[in-house]
Amino acid sequence: MKVVHSIHELELIRAQLGDAQVGLVPTMGALHPGHMSLVDLARKVCDVVVVSIFVNPLQFGPEEDYARYPRPLQHDLDICEQAGVELVFNPGVTDLFPAQRQVTVQAGPLGSVFEGSARPGHFDGMLTVVLKLLNLVQPTMSIFGRKDAQQLASVKRMVTDLNVDVEIVQAPIIREPDGLAMSSRNQYLSPPDRQSATAIWRALEAASTEVTASAAKRAATEVLDAAAAANPNFVLDYAEVVDPETFAVLDDEDSGPALLATAATVGATRLIDNTELTLAGPPRTDEDEDADGDRIGAFRGARA
Ligand code: PAF
Repeated sequence: MKVVHSIHELELIRAQLGDAQVGLVPTMGALHPGHMSLVDLARKVCDVVVVSIFVNPLQFGPEEDYARYPRPLQHDLDICEQAGVELVFNPGVTDLFPAQRQVTVQAGPLGSVFEGSARPGHFDGMLTVVLKLLNLVQPTMSIFGRKDAQQLASVKRMVTDLNVDVEIVQAPIIREPDGLAMSSRNQYLSPPDRQSATAIWRALEAASTEVTASAAKRAATEVLDAAAAANPNFVLDYAEVVDPETFAVLDDEDSGPALLATAATVGATRLIDNTELTLAGPPRTDEDEDADGDRIGAFRGARA
């Protein structure tokens, strides 16, 4: 496995790879089995797997955990090596962001709701670094986890809107045995807060069989409110049924694929998670049944 820190070294290696199918797994390090499932997915379909490890200052707010974000580089390199990763790109901040830089990506409306509203500028900073990584590594595909659903939707939007020549592959959420979605930030949780955090998965489970937005939201909120009542460190931010691509809030008139997306701050740690739903749309009325009957009658009449 090669480990490179400079853009120049990366460019030399990328040139040697020619037309190989390259899979990029962008990460901020502190790798866990969730990240490694992205590597495994890339491994299955690509000739060469590249992992980037870069804690991106642009996507952290001034009060957030940039300084204390875990950076266990040797551990990360060891597990990349064991997983058969060919190349790790681990640039320094000034390599990727020289002082004279001026241009950034703007996430648009999707970047200002939910996580974007709680973390102003987060999605602009995330997309800026992802676009740079895609430009530098020039992968055939890049793999993103579904846990960060708004991130995934924003990356897909950027790739479409800016005609970036890469396939974005979405990977399933990997969970701890008690359902908590794997995240590098879980290690910040105290044992009692870690226990309370399992309410997030229980809430998603409770919502997952519902077929209307209001019922799904109610089922999840009941569980999350109970967790907040039991532990004052558990503060629910939102539990909302949204369109998976635009994050527009859906209601009982809507049908088709949806996400129940939720965020809570547990202690000082912000946790996000989501589950997929299939909404049934408004209940059928007697008029709908009559209209269908008339249509079938007319169709039979036409064939007769
Ligand atoms: O999901 C992450 O770890 C980061 O947001 C990413 C995609 C590596 C960009 O810094």
